[in-house]
Amino acid sequence: MLREIGHFLRHAPATLRLKARLPQAELYATLMARSDAAGMRDRRAALAAGLRGEVLELGAGTGAMFGYYEPGAALTAVEPDPAFAAKARDAAAGAPVPVDVVEATGEALPFDAGRFDAGVVALVLCSVPEPAHVLGELHRVLRPGATLRLIEHVRSERRVAGTLMRAVNGAWLRLNGQGCNLDRDPLPAIAAAGFELTRVEPFQVFSAGLPAFPMRWIDATRR
Ligand SMILES: C[S@@+](CC[C@H](N)C(=O)[O-])C[C@H]1O[C@@H](n2cnc3c(N)ncnc32)[C@H](O)[C@@H]1O
Repeated sequence: MLREIGHFLRHAPATLRLKARLPQAELYATLMARSDAAGMRDRRAALAAGLRGEVLELGAGTGAMFGYYEPGAALTAVEPDPAFAAKARDAAAGAPVPVDVVEATGEALPFDAGRFDAGVVALVLCSVPEPAHVLGELHRVLRPGATLRLIEHVRSERRVAGTLMRAVNGAWLRLNGQGCNLDRDPLPAIAAAGFELTRVEPFQVFSAGLPAFPMRWIDATRR
C-alpha cells in the first residue's frame, strides 16, 4: 500500500498542473497513452482479441480501445460525453475495423435486444451512477452466449487499504472530475445481472499521473 501511496503523491503535482492546462478529454487521452505505455496496452489487446461480429463497446471515452479490435469485428461504441465522443470519432477514422460512435448512456442503450455478439467495457463501471442498471441494459442488448469482457479497478480486498479507499473516495471524486469512484467492487453486480464470470485476473499498472488501482481483467458470458 505504501508503494501505491508513494506513486500517487510523487506524480500528483505534475498531474494537477497538466489538469489545469488541458481540457478533460485531452488530459484523459494523455494519461491513457501513458498508461498504455506502462502496460495497459497488453490488457487492452487481450480485451479485444478474437472478438467477431457485432461488438458493443460501452463508455468508449476517447477511443483508446479502437486500435486493438481485429478484422471480423464491427464496432458500435457508446459514449455519452460529447467532447470524448468527438475524440473517439477521430480515433475511429484510423481504426482497423468499422466503428460507429453513438452518443448515448449505458442506462438507455438505443439498440434492439440481443443485437450484439460481444461487449467490451474498459474502466467504466467505476464512473456510471448505477452499475446494476447499466449491466442490465448490457444484458438486454447482448445475445445469449455472448462474450462480455471488462477491465475494472476495484476496492482493495485488503482491510486497511479497502477502508482507506472508502475514506478518500469523496476527495478522489472531486479531484478526478469524471465521476470515477475508487471504492467499488463491480464483480457481484456483473454476476447478478446475468453473466457467468469465466475468468478474473488481478493486475496493476504503475503509470505517471494515475493511481495504481487494483485492477481486474474480467471475462464473462451472457447467460
Ligand atoms: C475512465 S473513462 C474510460 C474510457 C475508455 N473506456 C477507456 O478505456 O479509456 C469512463 C468513461 O465512461 C463514460 N461514462 C460515464 N458514465 C457513463 C454512462 N452512464 N454510460 C456510458 N458511459 C459512461 C465516460 O464518459 C467516460 O468516457
